[in-house]
Amino acid sequence: MTYGKAPAPPVTPPALMARKGGAPIVCLTAYTTPIAQLVDRHCDLVLVGDSVGMVLHGLPDTLGVTLDMMIMHGKAVRRGLKSALMVVDMPFGTYEESPEQAFRNAATLMRETGCGAVKLEGGAQMAPTIRFLTQRAIPVVAHIGLTPQSVHTFGGYKVQGRGAESQAVLRDAQAVAEAGAFAVVIEKVPDILARRITADIDIPTIGIGASVACDGQILVVDDMLGMFADFKPKFVKRYAELGTEADKAVAAYAEEVCARRFPAAEHVFGDTPTSVKGA
Ligand code: KIV
Repeated sequence: MTYGKAPAPPVTPPALMARKGGAPIVCLTAYTTPIAQLVDRHCDLVLVGDSVGMVLHGLPDTLGVTLDMMIMHGKAVRRGLKSALMVVDMPFGTYEESPEQAFRNAATLMRETGCGAVKLEGGAQMAPTIRFLTQRAIPVVAHIGLTPQSVHTFGGYKVQGRGAESQAVLRDAQAVAEAGAFAVVIEKVPDILARRITADIDIPTIGIGASVACDGQILVVDDMLGMFADFKPKFVKRYAELGTEADKAVAAYAEEVCARRFPAAEHVFGDTPTSVKGA
C-alpha cells in the first residue's frame, strides 16, 4: 500500500491550502534531480531548502547560501518533479530589506527555477512583505518558531516559544496567515504550542520538531535517510541508515582495490588475445 500522495496532476498552492484539517501533507527537502524524482512519488510538497548549504556544501549554517545556489539547485529539482509542489527557500539577505527587494528576488527564483512558491523566515515582522508578495502573484510559505537564519540572534538552534514566549510565536502564526501565506512551517516549538497554532489559524501548519497534530510534516531528506551518522537531533526519525551503509560500501571498495580483487573478470572487457601486443 502506498501512503501519502495519490498520483495526480501537479499540486498547487490553493490545493494545498484546501488540505487544512484534512489528510496530512507530506513534505521533504530535495536539492538534486535524482532525489527529487524519488520524493516526488510520495510527497505533496518538495522544498529546495537553504539547508542545502549545510547538507551539500559543508557550510556551518544557512547564512552563506546565495540566490545563485538556490537557482542552481531549484533548476535541478524542477527536472525531477512531476506532481509535487516545488517551493524554494529565499536565502538570508535576499528579502529582509524591503518588500520590493523580496519581490525582485522571489520573482527571479520563480522565473529561473519554475517553482510554484517561495518560503521565507519570520513572523509578524515579515507580514507586510508576505502581503506585498502574495498580492503580486507570489505564493508564500512562511516559516516561524526556530528560524535557522536567525541562529546568531537565538544563540543556537534552541526550542522556541516555551513559556511566556509562546504568545509571540502564536502572534507570528496569526500575522503570516492574515498576510496571505498559504502555509506555515513551524520549527522546533513545544508540541502544545504547535497544536494551539494549528487549531487557531486557517492555513496548513507544516511541522518540523513541532507536533503530530500539524497539518503536515517536513524533514530534511538527508536527515531522515540517515546520511550523517553523527547528526541525530531529537526531532528527526531515521527511516534508513544510508550513511553507515555508504561507509561500509566505500570501505569494501577500497579494500578490494588494494587487494587487486576489483575489477574482477566480469567487470573488464574481452578482446582477441592477438590484438594487444604483449598481452
Ligand atoms: O531549509 C530547510 O531545509 C528548511 C526546512 C523546513 C527543513 O527550511
